[in-house]
Amino acid sequence: MDVEALTESVITALSRISGEAGDVDLVGSGRVQGLEVKEGGRVRFSFHLRAEDPGTLVKFARQVVEEVSGVSEVKVDVQLPRLGGADGPRPAGNDRTLKPGSVPAPTPRPGLLAEVERVVAVSSGKGGVGKSMVAANLAAVLASQGLRVGLIDADIYGPNIPLMFGETRRPRVSGGKGHERIEALEAHGVRLMSLGFLLDREQPAIMRGPLIAGILKQFIEQVEWGALDVMVVDMPPGTGDAQLSLVQTIDLDGAVMVTTPQDVATGDVRRGIKMFEKVNTKVLGVVENMAGWLCPHCGEQADVFGHGGGERLAAEMEVPFLGRVPLDAAVAVAGDEGRPTVLADPEGPAGRALFALARGLRTRLEAVPARS
Ligand SMILES: Nc1ncnc2c1ncn2[C@@H]1O[C@H](COP(=O)(O)OP(=O)(O)OP(=O)(O)O)[C@@H](O)[C@H]1O
Ligand SMILES: [Mg+2]
Repeated sequence: MDVEALTESVITALSRISGEAGDVDLVGSGRVQGLEVKEGGRVRFSFHLRAEDPGTLVKFARQVVEEVSGVSEVKVDVQLPRLGGADGPRPAGNDRTLKPGSVPAPTPRPGLLAEVERVVAVSSGKGGVGKSMVAANLAAVLASQGLRVGLIDADIYGPNIPLMFGETRRPRVSGGKGHERIEALEAHGVRLMSLGFLLDREQPAIMRGPLIAGILKQFIEQVEWGALDVMVVDMPPGTGDAQLSLVQTIDLDGAVMVTTPQDVATGDVRRGIKMFEKVNTKVLGVVENMAGWLCPHCGEQADVFGHGGGERLAAEMEVPFLGRVPLDAAVAVAGDEGRPTVLADPEGPAGRALFALARGLRTRLEAVPARS
């Protein structure tokens, strides 16, 4: 079994274990971090034990991984709970476990984004499913964990990332003609850039389409990103030529597909997943957004559009299911306030789900071998 498939089996096995009643899985809850899977089935991860966890949870996690076929050895670095250390949003600290999984020394990424360790695209088959919301919140969580994070708004049809971060300034441009350098704006700890800043909105979208990839390339080169641990790319919706050339321009480590329960049935998400597979980009997983509706009065969850569609789709396409984010009025409010939900309402239904999503994604991203 190859390392990639084994990594996926280990994550799946760990995801099935739940902590205290009602808790999310070990990967999504952030207990398991820094997963490394090496040739020969050698597995290593750190286990962040919580105050409320039974001590046997670590042993159980180890057993479950040992039972995964292909695993030969399991090493667990147990991290004991910090005093008063709830696992909510933490101030930026030295928590950079994001490092190449199976390669000892990081090798610089060739070409564009040479100083960026991981590049992940957030994509969708169709518009309006919450791609920008997911991208913005993932970036905000990773930044709150102390990673150096960049966020590119590659959606020229409706650039809205700067607004979601409350950033209304225009970036400063320095240098002479042909040597322009663009300053990356920073908000909520995330370095931001929007393609929308550089494009004339009056120009018809159809004319801009074929040009986007070229513009994006130039754009990435000219922006002063500095060294980053993760770059999140908010893609324009769809799976057409413009998106394909974007994907080919940026050297991606993985892609996250966002869908809503009512769009699962359409071919759009499947086409999206196939587009990434065609260019050998790993699909890190499917996110089901606007899943269910939590009644603010009775707390009851209503499945307005049916249940489990995202999970079934992920299984059918043989890609991981990363989780679901419920419909939550706090998301819209956060958008208007210019603060991602994970910062504005971290304890709300969407906030919690987005934290779990970011943790699961980080584990999967850590496990992607670095490229040379
Ligand atoms: N879980 C949610 N609960 C409530 N509102 C949501 C949720 N997710 C997204 N929204 C709202 O839905 C709208 C669309 O979200 P968003 O802009 O992130 O989608 P998108 O896929 O990026 O759209 P586009 O294709 O236009 O770029 C926004 O107004 C957002 O606030
Ligand atoms: Mg968007």
